[in-house]
Amino acid sequence: MSVCYLNGQWMDLAEARVSPMDRGFLFGDGVYEVIPSYSKHLFRIDEHLKRLDNSLKAIGLENPMNRAEWRKIVAEAVERNEGTDQSVYLQVTRGVGAVRNHAFPAEVTPTVFLMVESLTTPDEATRAQGGSAVSAADFRWLRCDLKAVSLLANCLLKQHAAENACVETILFRDGFLTEGAASSIFVVIDGTAYVPPKSHLMLPGITYDVVIELAQRHGMPLQVREILEDEVRSADEIWMTSSTKEVLPITRLDGRPVGKGLPGPMAAQMYGWYQEFKQEVMRHGG
Ligand code: PDD
Repeated sequence: MSVCYLNGQWMDLAEARVSPMDRGFLFGDGVYEVIPSYSKHLFRIDEHLKRLDNSLKAIGLENPMNRAEWRKIVAEAVERNEGTDQSVYLQVTRGVGAVRNHAFPAEVTPTVFLMVESLTTPDEATRAQGGSAVSAADFRWLRCDLKAVSLLANCLLKQHAAENACVETILFRDGFLTEGAASSIFVVIDGTAYVPPKSHLMLPGITYDVVIELAQRHGMPLQVREILEDEVRSADEIWMTSSTKEVLPITRLDGRPVGKGLPGPMAAQMYGWYQEFKQEVMRHGG
């Protein structure tokens, strides 16, 4: 049984009910976070909660809980559910309106929902081979920096990957790399890793920050700059990063091999440092 939190109450996920008049359901009017937990230790919880604050602020929704309250509920969700590695999904919508009206209702209580799923990171076989990706034009809106629940464009783009037996769709806008349908994208060219700068065109990934920090800590050359589509297509390595995929090498793009068509040495190094960092978090928190 999976225990979830809905508007102040803990219950069996199968029993949870939200009104069809909820603006999350009608308009996708809400924001969310996905927070990994390893052996019951939350990974970068403060950074996730800070990003939640930013998303809420940007959509004009007052945070229904303070940082301490969120921390308590997220930790409790992890405790109440079984599993070693877990992923906490939380979402806040603007709540239930009396009528369907695009503009915000005058008085409305946000809907707060949390659930826990088991976290399945890419297995050894996938890691050894690397994943395949397809590419597509980034046709999403211009506020991709918000972690909004209105994810139709991302769903269509991820489905494009699934239909091509790929793990991700890599997105290009006006000839430049933005990110993946549900991940950040790094490339390696001549021994240097590159990643696009944060902007309204991409989600500020928590894993993105960790990877940059780890590169700095271990002296791996890494530059944050705009990346041309052509540079991605001729890169030596491509990595996708996210809270659930961690650091996964992409070894084929649009049916063609990336570099030698095998996971590259820098991806392996970064993955190793990421695993070490997870161990640190499990020992000391963070
Ligand atoms: N997605 N970009 C997009 C569009 C994403 O959806 C995600 C994560 C990322 C990586 O962000 P982070 O490193 O903070 O996980 C980048 C999550 C996992 C999801 O929607 O399930």
